[in-house]
Amino acid sequence: MKIGIDKIGFYVPKLYLDIETLAINREVDPMKYKKGLMLDKMAVAPLNQDIISMGVNAAHSILTKEDIEKIDMVLFATESSIDQSKAAATHLISLLSLKKNIRALELKHACYALTAAIQFAKNHVKENPESKVLVVGSDIAKYGIKTDGEPTQGAGAIALIISKDPCIAEIENVSGLYADDIYDFWRPSYSPYAMVDGQYSNEMYKKFFLESYEDYLKKSRHKKEDIDAFIFHIPYAKLGLKTLSLIEPNIESNLYQYFNQSIVYNQQVGNIYTGSLYLSLVSLLEQGEMKDNSRIGLFSYGSGAVAEFYTIKLVNGYKNHLNKIYHEKLLENRKALSIESYESLISTHLTNDIKFEDENESYCELKEISHQQRKYNIKAV
Ligand code: COA
Repeated sequence: MKIGIDKIGFYVPKLYLDIETLAINREVDPMKYKKGLMLDKMAVAPLNQDIISMGVNAAHSILTKEDIEKIDMVLFATESSIDQSKAAATHLISLLSLKKNIRALELKHACYALTAAIQFAKNHVKENPESKVLVVGSDIAKYGIKTDGEPTQGAGAIALIISKDPCIAEIENVSGLYADDIYDFWRPSYSPYAMVDGQYSNEMYKKFFLESYEDYLKKSRHKKEDIDAFIFHIPYAKLGLKTLSLIEPNIESNLYQYFNQSIVYNQQVGNIYTGSLYLSLVSLLEQGEMKDNSRIGLFSYGSGAVAEFYTIKLVNGYKNHLNKIYHEKLLENRKALSIESYESLISTHLTNDIKFEDENESYCELKEISHQQRKYNIKAV
């Protein structure tokens, strides 16, 4: 039985900061951010878009009634959780009208949790072939104003349906793994901002890639040539490019062409933490020319740290099941922020007793926080 990605979609909020605006205001040469880190725009969440509403918006863009009838598990991966106890996935039951005979769970492991969720979903479908699993990754990446990590922030959500006989890609069975106990990036529960040892995190990312990739090659008995394209967790595109160069010195290789196609969306959005690898996958599939039956290697990295390298195989006709025009419009129809508006948004932390006007800009928006509970607006469609 083939199990894999039946659908995939994403949502980004309607606001962004141009990376040049940030560079000029921080008195940094814009080429450092544009060429040195390979960034272009950074998605910024307005106050009425949180991880729940963004996750709902991403899921709503791919779900049909038939999917909802079959979904008996919903997994929500995030490292910018809004609650230490109530799982984000429970909000999705009401906001997406999911069945109530369902397993609903939130998962955390830095930028890795969405990959873990996808693997758990695959195993669930193996045991329950008629089931579909909704997997969502949603994050707001905040390092804070005037920090080294400031240009590598972002916001957005990814949603996937994992099922048997998938329309997009089969998930192959071998995973290369590597984990260790390190502090490269972390966020203590009392801090709204992430802490990062930037250069150390870059080194660990590359080391964990080599270790997990080698583990994959050993277990699968594949060679590099058996993999048609490599995609990476993308906190910023340059890190993926440098990591690819560790295994492919020839810059004329097709692998670089595919890599460039895989970062088109990431460069418009910035870092969306756990969804970044899968935003890169959507970018490759929608902006690239991958042939049916191609094998793609995915490198997932979560600081702290754990790494997984695994492969998917595209199925015949996968291009017919993408949402390219919708995604391109979503990215085009955004508003640029001034530096002052960006700074105000990034340093506002919502607490109780707040109400928003119904802007009706996206399918789901945060409506209010009252009695310490969040309520959302759903647009009538
Ligand atoms: N024109 C072109 N390139 C320039 C430049 C200029 N004027 N000035 C600097 N650069 C290049 C540097 O050469 C470097 O490229 P290289 O790595 O290929 O040599 C790149 O820009 C970054 O410069 P660097 O001095 O390393 O930047 P930094 O000290 O500000 O740190 C990060 C960059 C990414 C470490 C920092 O933004 C950060 O901490 N980010 C968050 C951590 C993260 O995302 N980690 C990933 C693991 S998940």
